[in-house]
Amino acid sequence: MERTLSIVKPDGVQRGIIGEVIRRLENSNISIIAMKMLKMTKAQAEGFYAVHRERPFFDSLTDFMSSGPVVVMVLEGEQVIAKYRELMGATNYKEAADGTIRRDFATDIEKNIVHGSDAPETAAFEIGYFFNRFEIVS
Ligand code: RTP
Ligand code: MG
Repeated sequence: MERTLSIVKPDGVQRGIIGEVIRRLENSNISIIAMKMLKMTKAQAEGFYAVHRERPFFDSLTDFMSSGPVVVMVLEGEQVIAKYRELMGATNYKEAADGTIRRDFATDIEKNIVHGSDAPETAAFEIGYFFNRFEIVS
């Protein structure tokens, strides 16, 4: 069993795509074991995406991620990290496979609707960034 962190990014919340993301998770038999809505400060977004600190898009990305409410969820299942990334599609929606969340809804390489952890270590860091153990049901 693995866990991963999912975020419906500010563009997804603003455009009313929260329900669609949840529907796709449920249709894929992925368990949601924690969920909440929050709005990150710029500093919180910088801490979350600290691995991208040196990237040219860091400032713009953290502005975007702190621009409005997001929905954060912990997902659980067998190989859920890869399974959820498959549902999301490639970072660049133009390269994302048909039927993926990003292909169907993203409008921009940055405004790409969803986030998903990319490895067990990053998942553990990212889940701990938003949730304590009393907020996770399993
Ligand atoms: P995420 O972390 O959000 O799940 O996305 P990812 O793994 O597919 O992509 P990653 O390389 O980790 O990039 C994180 C987020 O930064 C924005 N981005 N902008 N302007 C650009 O070239 C660029 N590249 C990435 C996207 O919002 C991406 O999801
Ligand atoms: Mg990433």
